[in-house]
Amino acid sequence: MLKSKTKQLLTALAFSTAIMASPMAANAADKGMSSVEAGKKIAFSKKKGNCLACHAMQGGAMAGNIGPALIAMKLRFPDKQKLVDKVWGKLDLQVPNSMMPPFGRNEVLTDADINKIVDFIYTL
Ligand code: HEC
Repeated sequence: MLKSKTKQLLTALAFSTAIMASPMAANAADKGMSSVEAGKKIAFSKKKGNCLACHAMQGGAMAGNIGPALIAMKLRFPDKQKLVDKVWGKLDLQVPNSMMPPFGRNEVLTDADINKIVDFIYTL
C-alpha cells in the first residue's frame, strides 16, 4: 500500500519535471539566438507580432498588403528610436485610421519583444 503510494508520487513528480523542462529548454534555445533571429521569430509568429498579416517582409511567406512592404527600414527610419516608437504605437507617430495595431500601447507585445522585432526589421 505505502509502496504503491510512493510509486504514484514518484511518477507524478517525474511527469511534472518533464513538463517543466520543456519551456525551460525553449527559453534556453531563445537565449542562444541573436536578437535579430529572435525578432524575426516574433514578427513572423501568428500569435505574437503577426506582421506578415499586413506587411510583405523578406523571408516571410503569404504576406498581406494592407501595410507597406517593410524594406529599406534604415533609410526610412534613420533614427532607430522612431521605428521603435512607431511599432510601439506612440501617439505622435500614429497615422489617422491606420490598421497598424499599437503593439506596445495596447500591451500586445512587451518592450523587449518590440526591440527585438526592430533589430530584425532594421536589417530589411
Ligand atoms: C492589421 C495590419 C497590420 C499589422 C498586423 C501590422 N501592421 Fe504595420 N502598418 C500597417 C499599416 C496599414 C501601415 C501604414 C499606416 C501607418 O503607418 O500606420 C503600417 C505601417 C507600419 C510601419 C511604418 C512603415 C513606414 O515606412 O512608414 C512599420 C515600421 C510597421 N508598420 C511595422 C509593423 C510591424 C513590425 C508589425 C508586426 C509587429 C506590423 N507592422 C503589424 C498595418 C499593419
